[in-house]
Amino acid sequence: MCGIIGYVGNKEAKQILINGLLRLEYRGYDSAGIATVSPDNVLNIVKNKGRIKDLMENKNIDSLKGTVGIGHTRWATHGIPSETNSHPHVDQDKLFTVVHNGIIENYALLKDMLIKAGYNFYSQTDTEVVPNLINYNLKKEKDQSLESVLHAIKVTCDELEGSYALEILSPLIPNYLIVTRRNSPLIIGSGHGENYVSSDIPAILSYTNNFYLLDNNEYAVITNNSVEFYNESLTKIEKEVRNIAWDMSAAEKEGFDDYMLKEIFEQPKSIRETIGSRLLNGKTNLPDFEISEEKLKEINKIYIIACGTAMHAGLACKRLYEHLLGIETVVEVASEFRYKDPLVDDKTLCIFVSQSGETADTIAALRLAKENGATTIAITNVISSSITREADYTLYTHAGPEIAVASTKAYTAQIILLTILAINLSETLHMNLVLGTQLKQELVEIPSKVEKILSNIEPIKNFASEVYKETDSFFIGRLEDYAAALEGSLKLKEISYIHSEAYPAGELKHGPIALIEDNVTIIGLITNPLTAPKTLSNVEEVLTRGAKALVITNQIVDQSKFDLVYTIPEISEYLSPVLSVIPLQLFAYYISKEKGLDVDKPRNLAKSVTVE
Ligand code: M6R
Repeated sequence: MCGIIGYVGNKEAKQILINGLLRLEYRGYDSAGIATVSPDNVLNIVKNKGRIKDLMENKNIDSLKGTVGIGHTRWATHGIPSETNSHPHVDQDKLFTVVHNGIIENYALLKDMLIKAGYNFYSQTDTEVVPNLINYNLKKEKDQSLESVLHAIKVTCDELEGSYALEILSPLIPNYLIVTRRNSPLIIGSGHGENYVSSDIPAILSYTNNFYLLDNNEYAVITNNSVEFYNESLTKIEKEVRNIAWDMSAAEKEGFDDYMLKEIFEQPKSIRETIGSRLLNGKTNLPDFEISEEKLKEINKIYIIACGTAMHAGLACKRLYEHLLGIETVVEVASEFRYKDPLVDDKTLCIFVSQSGETADTIAALRLAKENGATTIAITNVISSSITREADYTLYTHAGPEIAVASTKAYTAQIILLTILAINLSETLHMNLVLGTQLKQELVEIPSKVEKILSNIEPIKNFASEVYKETDSFFIGRLEDYAAALEGSLKLKEISYIHSEAYPAGELKHGPIALIEDNVTIIGLITNPLTAPKTLSNVEEVLTRGAKALVITNQIVDQSKFDLVYTIPEISEYLSPVLSVIPLQLFAYYISKEKGLDVDKPRNLAKSVTVE
């Protein structure tokens, strides 16, 4: 969702801010803007509806002078996408300009109060209350010094309800940038004679590998050569700079047309790196996660909680957890879990899966689980993301930065890590060690199996070119094949805008089959020998009603019956989604390309959903 960038240094801020905004594009946005303070202390703001390209071509762009500035990509929540509603926003006296990611839940009350106090507003946004409230609170301070401005910002934040990452720039303190956050992401990059602010690491990775992480309700006062930190009550605190080993090439397209295609092709590597040294001498090795046998024996329920693709990774692993551990495992959508008064207590293990580690609903669900006494584990891809600061344990997928909105390599890495965790728990419980050993062997073989699939993309590409004009599609499968069907269907709908649904294959007859006609594509997933004959005949049933069929399988299938039978390597049913999802990712990708759509930045979607 909204992206934030900031710069204080010795170079012109404008280009650095634009570069950062371009890197934040993947988060999803509908408008963009930049503010700078010039050496003669003039605040300039340029913003518009549309893309960063439009901002770069904005007739006022050259007015942005100075070596300190803030930038923003907006994803509309309060107020339509428009120039007026774009960030940065200013107070009525143009003393403060602010960019904001998050939602100020009590903005209406605050706006009302400020209007009564004589303040004027120009936008429909929640954000505009922030600079005006700082202005209002500054009037109660003894002067307009840095100290007073910082205090006015703190008093303002104390009054805000909701979530925010805020950057504040003011001609009153022209060489400073003040930033703060509560439940929205914001990191500070440390350079030589220059410092950066961003919503995420890849946006400023070309400038620095050294980052400070700001915790909730902390403040940072940033100049070109210093970063000072303050806690909630404005007591000065120290923070360590962290070196993040990602290199820039990991966040570049490297010759691929789109990030999504690059990320699909990175899966052998991301899976290898996620396994890393976690399989050692025939055992699992999770040094960051140590739970005693006694504690584990008390656990009588496991929840896997997540959103979107991460939730699908959980579904793919549900049966594995139950079969390996003999513990009921429930997979829940985080936005449901947080409101359903779930049965969670100190005998519950809750695993939260999130690529970004910033998904608002997943974090809220984590807090609820902790309040109820559960043991909590975060599985995430982003180092030091919000979720890692709250969970009891964190396990990282080492998938590298995922830029495309449609999640691909994170999904397969999540299944790999969830599987290793399940085996690790079974080893601690001394349960089902034979199955665990078989899976450990299979895990090691997966990267080369993925490579094999990736060396045979033509059939999928050709099938995509045959069916891209169809209007509806149904993905069907049983058990883990159904879990993979859900993910394949989500991929297709989010980047091709084709109506798509996933069904357990046996459910088709109970209603959805009524929708099958000529312009429908059916994708059957058939990797489990037990259920293969059933699902095959389900696909045949729809074929006779006019649909076109793609079958993804590792079973023996009569190729002549279907439009395409795509064969994937043999694999345990528990790990089959890691392989069967690859042709589905490619299918969605090539359909989207055939339709001429923006694969990496599909409409209406944000990479990480940091508001409810
Ligand atoms: O960052 P997270 O894994 O928490 O994100 C969860 C979902 O928003 C995400 O998986 C979303 O469904 C993707 N766009 C799917 O491709």
